[in-house]
Amino acid sequence: MPSVIVTGSCQGLGLEFCRQYAAAGWRVLATCLAPDTADTLTQLAAQFPRVTVLALDVTDFAAIDRLAESVATDAIDLLICNAGVNPDNAGPGFGSLDYGAWREVLTINTLAPVKLVETFLPHLKRGRRRQVAVISSCMSSIANNQSGGYITYRVSKTALNASMRSVAVDLQPHGISVLLLHPGWVRTSMGGPDATLSPEESITGLRRVIEAASPAQSGRLFDFEGKEMPW
Ligand SMILES: NC(=O)c1ccc[n+]([C@@H]2O[C@H](COP(=O)([O-])OP(=O)(O)OC[C@H]3O[C@@H](n4cnc5c(N)ncnc54)[C@H](OP(=O)(O)O)[C@@H]3O)[C@@H](O)[C@H]2O)c1
Repeated sequence: MPSVIVTGSCQGLGLEFCRQYAAAGWRVLATCLAPDTADTLTQLAAQFPRVTVLALDVTDFAAIDRLAESVATDAIDLLICNAGVNPDNAGPGFGSLDYGAWREVLTINTLAPVKLVETFLPHLKRGRRRQVAVISSCMSSIANNQSGGYITYRVSKTALNASMRSVAVDLQPHGISVLLLHPGWVRTSMGGPDATLSPEESITGLRRVIEAASPAQSGRLFDFEGKEMPW
């Protein structure tokens, strides 16, 4: 039975990843900020005994270490770095940037995914699939940025891509692939009600892309339909 670990699982795309992998018979380690209030995730775990809900704030790097130790003997087939924030959704941006908030965004969206891959590397090496899926965004693209704005979010995802490109090269000798993925514009708390895709549609597409990915695709950015995106 393959196993997956997902960050930011209590709602949105993370929750849908857990739902779909659980339904497909996978063992799911569903991490989230506050399991006590993650009612839908808790219900999923009650429905599927192979789903385990675990507390994890991805900014707490010591907690990432402790989590990895607590599942030290396990193999992980797929690590999904999904947790993310976009405070630019709520603010006016350039002209009144909140630099403290920017640092926090970089920790969550950029540093934490790299820390997660570093920490769970032994588990991934024990896995059969040896895949990392990193949820990036089309807004990471410098080439495609004609509309401006969203500085903190864009930079965090551009730097995420650059970091993971290096990680992908470093992990190639171990047979571990690192996919950067744009989920589309999805109706979640972050995407808002006007977004074009449901979480079901986005994650169905992303799972297909992950399943079909070849090692040659490691370190590259694809959307939920498998189309490669420009940096
Ligand atoms: N929706 C879109 O249109 C879209 C488009 C492109 C990329 N993305 C990316 O897709 C990913 C998922 O976003 P989403 O749309 O599902 O947004 P969402 O509904 O806002 O979910 C984000 C998740 O991240 C979690 N999270 C935030 N800070 C965390 C932390 N410090 N530690 C652990 N978990 C944390 C949240 O937990 P709480 O709920 O407990 O705060 C939540 O579960 C993000 O990386 C986002 O950048 C989304």
